[in-house]
Amino acid sequence: MRITVIGTGYLGAVHAACMADIGHEVLGVDVDEAKIAALAEGRPPFFEPGLPDLLARTHERGNLRFTTSLAEAAEFGEVHFVCVGTPQLKGSHAADMKHVDAVIDGLARHLHRPCLVVGKSTVPVGTAARLARRIAELSPVGAAAELAWNPEFLREGTAVLDTLEPDRLVVGAQSERAAQLLREVYAPMLAAGTPYLVTDLATAELVKVSANSFLATKISFINAISEVCEATGADIVELAQAIGLDSRIGSKFLTAGLGFGGGCLPKDIRAFYARGEELGLGRSLAFLREVDEINMRRRQRTIDVAREMLDGSFLGRRVAVLGAAFKPDSDDIRDSPALNVAAAIHLQGAHVCVHDEEAIDNARSAYPALDYALEPAKACEGADIVLHLTEWKQYRELDPAALAAVTNVPRVLDARNALDLAQWRAAGWTARALGRPAA
Ligand code: UGA
Repeated sequence: MRITVIGTGYLGAVHAACMADIGHEVLGVDVDEAKIAALAEGRPPFFEPGLPDLLARTHERGNLRFTTSLAEAAEFGEVHFVCVGTPQLKGSHAADMKHVDAVIDGLARHLHRPCLVVGKSTVPVGTAARLARRIAELSPVGAAAELAWNPEFLREGTAVLDTLEPDRLVVGAQSERAAQLLREVYAPMLAAGTPYLVTDLATAELVKVSANSFLATKISFINAISEVCEATGADIVELAQAIGLDSRIGSKFLTAGLGFGGGCLPKDIRAFYARGEELGLGRSLAFLREVDEINMRRRQRTIDVAREMLDGSFLGRRVAVLGAAFKPDSDDIRDSPALNVAAAIHLQGAHVCVHDEEAIDNARSAYPALDYALEPAKACEGADIVLHLTEWKQYRELDPAALAAVTNVPRVLDARNALDLAQWRAAGWTARALGRPAA
């Protein structure tokens, strides 16, 4: 099938490459010429495990091309996926729809034959119905240019696998023709037994924001209990393990610590409660404000515990930060809790040196005042405290004894509950973790 993927960020680039990998003829579209040039040469413009191999394969096969022209896309595609970003609107909690609106307006005018436009971006409920009307109004073929909504659930770091082997496919469709076209697009996934759920447009939009809200709530739930553990001397890691073994609860997304960041969960829950208020449903989604509050308190708590470990002041102290990305296996620093903490500590008079496996370049351009190191041991040289803020596997494999030798004082705060504290303590470290007893 001839498919276009409009917007080649973390979502669109992976979707385009995966659609080509399962055999479709794919045209990726973006307004960013540098990004398009890189992708056309088979180079991903960001770090995502598995994507370079996938791009190389499709490059060789020749069924994935890129362009900056929406007119060319309209001419080429039978199915058009819209994958552009919906960031938080400046000065508001609502989603900024300008990229989605620009794509729909730009594309619809060129749609000269029947086709399916498929929204994948995360949008406020009600958007799809509005866009369907807009396409019918602008397109030369009217309602024969149909709209469907197919939310995306991929996670950065495992995006390729999540796309090729999704837990489920959700399709908000207005006709059997639309549902059937997307069955054909996703035929290999359906053959592998992936559940395929057809809903109306509003339900499909809501499935996405509800899933992200549930995940955010689960993380903030365990972090709220972590606050109680900190006040009572209980241990959040043992507690989470114990409740996670209840199969109704489950252990995934139950790791307490510095909390969630990234380009999705924070802005999606905010856009959802903002939309709830617009709909007169503020009370129904008021708990999401609390989820947000709990999450933001974790950053302050990390700073407070670190300061306490330094006897009350950061002034003139050397702080090593392990991790800058919002999560491991990603170079994405959007709303990164790690960099938020690092920057705040720097402003309190510390000398902060940051290490990350993949996100250093992005971190350096967003936070030029911080210092950066290419090796964890370099970041820890002369440190008065080491803060473990993003749980890259590499940090769990560090030799605590060797690392202690390069620090000024071997103190570590594990804000991700991922290090083996007993091992670090045995190597001479004063080690603390969020939500766990001090020693
Ligand atoms: C999230 C959702 O998991 C995806 O399903 C969704 O498609 C995506 O948003 C999106 O809307 O595009 P992502 O932002 O890539 O994916 O990252 P997650 O794996 O969800 O992690 C989010 C944050 O939660 C990270 O900062 C992570 O460190 C934190 N987290 C995760 C915890 O603090 N504790 C946990 O137990 C799990």
